[in-house]
Amino acid sequence: MIRRKLIAGNWKMNKTAADGVALIKDITAEIGRLGSVDIVVCPPFTALESAAKALEGQSVKLGAQNMHPEKSGAYTGEVSAEMLRSLFVSHVILGHSERRTYFAETDAFINKKVVASLANQLKPILCVGETLAEREAGQTLAVVQKQTEGGLAGVTAEQITNVVIAYEPVWAIGTGKVATTAQAQEVHAFIRDLLTKLYGAPLAQKIRILYGGSMKPSNAPELLAEKDIDGGLIGGASLEARSFIDLVKAAD
Ligand code: G3H
Repeated sequence: MIRRKLIAGNWKMNKTAADGVALIKDITAEIGRLGSVDIVVCPPFTALESAAKALEGQSVKLGAQNMHPEKSGAYTGEVSAEMLRSLFVSHVILGHSERRTYFAETDAFINKKVVASLANQLKPILCVGETLAEREAGQTLAVVQKQTEGGLAGVTAEQITNVVIAYEPVWAIGTGKVATTAQAQEVHAFIRDLLTKLYGAPLAQKIRILYGGSMKPSNAPELLAEKDIDGGLIGGASLEARSFIDLVKAAD
């Protein structure tokens, strides 16, 4: 398999800086130097600096949950790619459905962030996925295609292998309702075909496509066994060391 599995924990709006350090210490004590799976933790902005210090010398990478596409300026409350890089952040989650829903982020705006992240040596984790209403209306693949193509506009062949796609059906996020392996694999394979059309098979085969949505140690082995599911973007189960470690081990 040419793609290493990737397990990313999205802490969302949880954990103070001190809580984050404690969680990272528990995680790294057991899997801090695991060489076989790529691991990323994505704390809130306020915990990034202390998390970076706690991760020194470990193989676990640091991610952010959002960024603004501009370099600097009058954007109250926002942070730039350069600011994230200064805190040793390597990955950034972009286009999460919570940002699309609660902060009205569009594909065009998300695309600006993807382009800016890559220009600043950050690896974007571009999230795509349909709502329950869209799935029930038979629009899943059309929605995923629009979000994927929209998010990747202008991303070059040289850049694309630094992009991670996360397929997160909105109806499965934080609900305990996980997509069946067949539902997830169908969409992952569709995204891989789309990437093949956009960038050619050799590059498309290298791009990681994560699943996100109520993934936990009990359902991860089955999902991760699918040929186009290359890891997970984990919300709730990333907030507690035991479940996150077990998820990483399921990917090993
Ligand atoms: O970014 C993570 C996803 O939104 C999944 O969250 O694992 O709590 O369902 P969840």
